[in-house]
Amino acid sequence: MSEETWAAVEKYVDGLLIPSDPVLEAAVAASEAAGLPDIAVTSSQGKLLYLLARLQRARRILEVGTLGGYSTIWLARALPEDGSVVTIESEKQHCEVARVNVERADLSALVEFREGKALDVLPELAAEGLEPFDLVFIDADKENTEAYFRWALRLSRVGAAILVDNVIRQGKVAEPETDDAPVEGMRRFFEMLAAEPRVTATTIQTVGRKGYDGFTLAMVVG
Ligand code: SAH
Ligand code: DHB
Ligand code: MG
Repeated sequence: MSEETWAAVEKYVDGLLIPSDPVLEAAVAASEAAGLPDIAVTSSQGKLLYLLARLQRARRILEVGTLGGYSTIWLARALPEDGSVVTIESEKQHCEVARVNVERADLSALVEFREGKALDVLPELAAEGLEPFDLVFIDADKENTEAYFRWALRLSRVGAAILVDNVIRQGKVAEPETDDAPVEGMRRFFEMLAAEPRVTATTIQTVGRKGYDGFTLAMVVG
């Protein structure tokens, strides 16, 4: 089975289940025009984020890795009027593109942008003593995923969902002898997860237009 088939199936099912959406298409176009990398979640993954946030009845969402705000828009659309997404991004230019995209989506009132390195911003959030998060989406530099997950755990309520993107890396995660830093980061993450009694988790491999990867869904249980 080929990548061509994955892309064709994605086009077929998304064409039926995910109506074309001028605001999201504009966000993709503006991100591309600004030269941002083409690594946002796909529309089917974005819709999964949206559905999980709704199933969770999430009011407080944390995102690590904003890029152009594509996933931020999907998440913010799942929120009630008094909800919020706090989204962390270290690249000033990405933040600027994301602000415009979120404004165009008429979601600025629900999104709080935190510009800075996540390992600097996350301790600030903890010090601010905010209400705990109901859902966290971790999608930044893969090397620090374990640390981001630990912060997510600290900042979440029992019952919260923590999603981690790009955990499979074309299957390289199962190769012990890797010298790929992002893959090593994901292996450290999985080893931590396996030993962490406060969460229960599963990992789903995905294929599609953007190749072969996967995500982990964890639930905070204690
Ligand atoms: N969630 C986005 C994609 C994020 S891509 C979407 O699906 O639409 C990963 C982002 O993480 C990039 O914009 C990158 O600049 C950012 N990033 C990388 N290292 C970071 C760090 N240390 N702190 C915060 N953001 C970081
Ligand atoms: C990369 C990062 C992502 O968040 C993603 O979804 C795909 C690829 C990357 O850094 O290669
Ligand atoms: Mg990603």
